[in-house]
Amino acid sequence: MSALTNPINWILAGVLGYISYNYFSASVTPPPPTRRPKQPALVFKEYTPKELAQFDGRTADTRILLAVQGKVFDVTRGRNFYGPEGPYGNFAGRDASRGLAKNSFDKTVLVPLDGPIDKLENLEDEEKEALSDWAMHFESKYQVVGKLIENKD
Ligand code: HEM
Repeated sequence: MSALTNPINWILAGVLGYISYNYFSASVTPPPPTRRPKQPALVFKEYTPKELAQFDGRTADTRILLAVQGKVFDVTRGRNFYGPEGPYGNFAGRDASRGLAKNSFDKTVLVPLDGPIDKLENLEDEEKEALSDWAMHFESKYQVVGKLIENKD
């Protein structure tokens, strides 16, 4: 049996080829990842509903904030959800509590921007439960950057 017809040689050649391919392809430096420029970290502060509305991802500051049960979350990294084209863009820059409680992304569910903060008093037990589940979701995923306070005028 010649070296070319011996199947052991073919198997050895295959193994050698596989090892060299892995060795050389691993030594190629991968291109640097493309990232959005990092925005400075937000300092914890108070936001009125009107101030919060500036952070809806459509205005000059492209950061996206929303409030749940009085806490303001930075949801910028969830831009796919809350950006202008996202399915939950209605919550961007708003107190999302009532919409989350009622499982509705209808803008009419949210309280007006220039009115008092929603006290969430007339929710069903089930809705209150849904809201606290959402609050836990946001706590675990996003940074709390502030507190929702009443409008000043
Ligand atoms: C039509 C039915 C719906 C479908 C198929 C759907 C689908 C989804 C999916 C796939 C996610 C991503 C889950 C993840 O990766 O963590 C998500 C997240 C979410 N959904 Fe829905 N959804 C629906 C209805 C709703 C409604 C009615 C609301 C209104 C309260 C809502 C609010 C949210 C929120 C706030 C998130 C979390 C986004 C985040 O983590 O920042 N969804 N949904």
